[in-house]
Amino acid sequence: MGHAYRAVGWNRQKRIYDTTLALGIGLCVALFMALTFAANPLVTAETLLIRAFAASAFVLLHVILSIGPLCRLDARFLPLLYNRRHLGVAMFVLALAHGVLAFVQFHALGVISPLESLLTSDGGPGTIPFQPLGAAALAVLFLMAATSHDFWLRNLTPPTWKALHMAVYVAYALIVLHVAFGFLQANTSPYLLAATAAGALGLFGLHLVAAQRERTTDRAEQLARGAWIDVGDVASIPDGRAKTVSIAGERVAIFRYGEKLSALSSVCRHQNGPLGEGRVVDGCVVCPWHGYQYRPHDGRSPEPFTERVPTFRVRVEGARVLVDPRPLPPGTAVEPAHVATQTQHDERELYVGYLPQSPPRQARFTRGVVLALFAACLAVVSLAALAQTPLRAGQFEFGVVREFRGVLASAPHPQLRVQRPGGGVSSYLLVAPGKHGADAFVREFDGRGVTLRGSLVHSGGRTLVELEPGSIALADVSIDASRTHDLGRVTLRGEIVDSKCHLGVMTPGERRTHRACAQLCIRGGIPPLFWVEDERGDVQRLLLVGANGEAVNERVLELVGLPLEIEGVVSQLDDWLVLSADPAAYRRIEKGER
Ligand code: HEM
Ligand code: FES
Repeated sequence: MGHAYRAVGWNRQKRIYDTTLALGIGLCVALFMALTFAANPLVTAETLLIRAFAASAFVLLHVILSIGPLCRLDARFLPLLYNRRHLGVAMFVLALAHGVLAFVQFHALGVISPLESLLTSDGGPGTIPFQPLGAAALAVLFLMAATSHDFWLRNLTPPTWKALHMAVYVAYALIVLHVAFGFLQANTSPYLLAATAAGALGLFGLHLVAAQRERTTDRAEQLARGAWIDVGDVASIPDGRAKTVSIAGERVAIFRYGEKLSALSSVCRHQNGPLGEGRVVDGCVVCPWHGYQYRPHDGRSPEPFTERVPTFRVRVEGARVLVDPRPLPPGTAVEPAHVATQTQHDERELYVGYLPQSPPRQARFTRGVVLALFAACLAVVSLAALAQTPLRAGQFEFGVVREFRGVLASAPHPQLRVQRPGGGVSSYLLVAPGKHGADAFVREFDGRGVTLRGSLVHSGGRTLVELEPGSIALADVSIDASRTHDLGRVTLRGEIVDSKCHLGVMTPGERRTHRACAQLCIRGGIPPLFWVEDERGDVQRLLLVGANGEAVNERVLELVGLPLEIEGVVSQLDDWLVLSADPAAYRRIEKGER
């Protein structure tokens, strides 16, 4: 056991960092929700939260992934890198809140287990299920958040820990696919597509430029020959500082101190801090994160400490610095290379992250960057909120239970026929709580007068009641038998939706992002509707049945939530239009056809 350095506890810098982070996240979530609500007052609370958490997590992930290359381009960004683990954990918490809410909202309370629904719903011919991609990303992020603590860093050793945490790029790729095959299919604004693409390209470009800076180096042919690598001119390394290059994927810092040059791994043994951004003070390289020290010629911490980093052989030819790409075992002493010419001593301030106060110039720079990041995040979140596809109006009287009187009909789907005060009959579809139809509750009352209790769901003159189980009682009600009359054969283009969500229990209750939930609802017996919208935005919702008026729930599952063309017979049943057609003849509309 070696001596330990002073524990890096909470200090003023860390508190400022975390308070700023909490404030930024709170503002992003609140702004997204406020703007979405202002544009769509009937949006359901779950949708608001699911989307606000997702958008904020995704934006924060971009910030996290930008910090590394920015620091490689300009050391003044280092204070942002110092506590980046807290950014990562905060992002995971947001993503977890989004994932858990989406999991419950779209997959719970159905006829199959939520996990089976998550993994199996939403696929089908020509569609890529986007939710399992999100779940895979969440699993990767979980692994990283769970091992973010110092305990794991010590036990896994910094290099293994770092390799594990590179999986953040896998998570990022999965999330981009999750968004591209889900949200962007239902929210087709070109601004959203452009923002997602700009985010991915921006990150890629930033990493490319930063890698270019550290270039030389990964030339496979040179490495294969074991040739020494030319890392640049002696004059490019200021006295007391390092030049960092990447050799065969490993970051190597070549320090100059007086007339000597030494090369060592740039990865600090404490928490992977960037030694190459540190400075030589009193003959030792000081890590800019928490001040761990290493002797440049052998990569060892001074007595009584025991940390060691790999070293590299270095030599000077003319004005060029050459490094042997083969790392030596940690702590191996190497004769420093000698440089005849003097260079300017670097007078820039070295700011060690754990110190309570950063130097004034650095503090000004950090404040400016943080403000710019704040502004950029809020702008992107506002764009994401305002560019969403407008949400349809529908209303669910959640928690308000009313009593209804009418006559029950059980085929093709449970309905309560009620006498309208002004004459005429309205038909209310009946469903059970959760993602279940009401067949089991109404069968014995078919054709009988009843009273029942439930909550209203309604949109555009179509009404549905979520039945309170056990509330049906026989009553003396009589209504004329329903008369249907054919309105003729039609060909309609639209989408199959589940009546419960679509009429208002979930807003939005349609398109690609709602597909898995609609499949689960329809599988559970909730009547399917065919939702048709013309160019002017006028909406028709037709009750969808088979060619002989039978229920078709099990036969339409694969086609739910996708653009379809259906040719069939339309008839009027009380105040509903009914579309009768054989599901075998439904036709999928391809993208180019629309
Ligand atoms: C179990 C895991 C996950 C599930 C079930 C899931 C599910 C969903 C669903 C259903 C949507 C569409 C929401 C809507 O349109 O209302 C969505 C969108 C989205 N998800 Fe996920 N997701 C998961 C994990 C993740 C993770 C880890 C991230 C990482 C940040 C993420 C980021 C997003 C983003 C950015 C969107 C689109 C934008 C938005 O809704 O604001 N998701 N997800
Ligand atoms: S990472 Fe903590 S001192 Fe280097």
